[in-house]
Amino acid sequence: MASRDPLDGARVVLGVTGSIAAYKAVMLASALHQAGAIVEVILTREAAELVRPLSFQAITHRPVHQEMFSLLAETEIGHVTLGHQADVVVVAPATAHTLARLALGLGDDLLATTVLATRAPLVIAPAMETNMLLHPATQGHLRTLRERGAVIVEPEAGHLASGARGVGRLAEPAVILDTVRVVLARRGDLAGWRVVVTAGGTQEPIDPVRVLANRSSGKMGFAVAQAARDRGAQVTLIVGATSVAPPHGVRVIEAPTARTMCEAVLRTIAEADALVMAAAVADYEAAAPAAQKIKKREERLVLELVPTPDILGTVAAQRAAGALPERLLVVGFAAESADLLTHAREKLRRKRLDLIVANDIMAAGSGFGTDTNQVVLLDRSGAERALPLLPKLDVAHALWDHVLALRQQEVRAR
Ligand code: C5P
Repeated sequence: MASRDPLDGARVVLGVTGSIAAYKAVMLASALHQAGAIVEVILTREAAELVRPLSFQAITHRPVHQEMFSLLAETEIGHVTLGHQADVVVVAPATAHTLARLALGLGDDLLATTVLATRAPLVIAPAMETNMLLHPATQGHLRTLRERGAVIVEPEAGHLASGARGVGRLAEPAVILDTVRVVLARRGDLAGWRVVVTAGGTQEPIDPVRVLANRSSGKMGFAVAQAARDRGAQVTLIVGATSVAPPHGVRVIEAPTARTMCEAVLRTIAEADALVMAAAVADYEAAAPAAQKIKKREERLVLELVPTPDILGTVAAQRAAGALPERLLVVGFAAESADLLTHAREKLRRKRLDLIVANDIMAAGSGFGTDTNQVVLLDRSGAERALPLLPKLDVAHALWDHVLALRQQEVRAR
């Protein structure tokens, strides 16, 4: 399957300015290049004192741009052409000085003229000493740039080059990368969609120490969220217990139990275009969780369990009552160890789903914790599509392809 990464084939101008964090821009350039982006690096004079142009050149396999009026560059690309060709301009790290130049619209070097000449979106990742960052002048420039549409990747708190601790550290390359993906995805086929995705397993308390849990890693739900984000959707990710970190660039709501997850889903779907329930939600919870840790004894311990709320069942009832927007498309998962399709068809009908992803958890390379999955997509019209064993991200894209096809059917039927 072709890469669905918005960075793949994108023209990214990476402006590097003279912050001590400039060395991290080498890693950022490398990550952009590895994701398939065509990376044009512009170094300011001060940045070139801190990192050698050759580092970037070796990584991006392209010449590094420094001089505004380099004779060779003028004949081949011109000092505004980089800006014209860019799909996105990223300034990372951005110093206080460069923030001021960009806010004022100065054109005193190649980076500044490129930012002036481009109509591509601008992503800025500031990095500087805490007092410089918090100075009203810097804050004012950041506000101006934000108002003009620039996306600011907030600097983090932590160890600074000065040796002090404070806010002003360049955001992690992975965060900057995902922010660039979100910006590029504005032209994706899910642009304008608001989607809610659940991921991970729930943990139902037995006492203050112990929980009833399951083996869900969260990987499938995270892939569904990431795929939607990379196609331009605004994603709310409702997360239980997971063994991996959620993707950046989505709104994360933590929901450790079936009950809290049910509340979070009902709260967020009123505004949504699609709900994808990829979470492994517990079917039972302790009838009466103990307030104190249960002590070990010689005799048998019997735990009484009662059913949790069925989230999709509740959503189905609300839909039937006309309490939810008609445009909401609902996708469930059926993780089964036997009679996969029979159970999936039954769930599709009973939970009034538009689409169900049937997942044979006994198949090799499929199910909990793996990076791949083998599924069958079954929709409300009776269509069934068996996919081969695929990376979870590819399964997620196939899911969204199918959701978009269902939406198009609705549009045609009107
Ligand atoms: O019937 P079963 O629980 O196997 O259905 C699985 C689907 O239902 C999944 O999409 C899961 O997220 C959802 N589910 C739910 N509420 C529960 C249990 C599961 O919405 N209490």
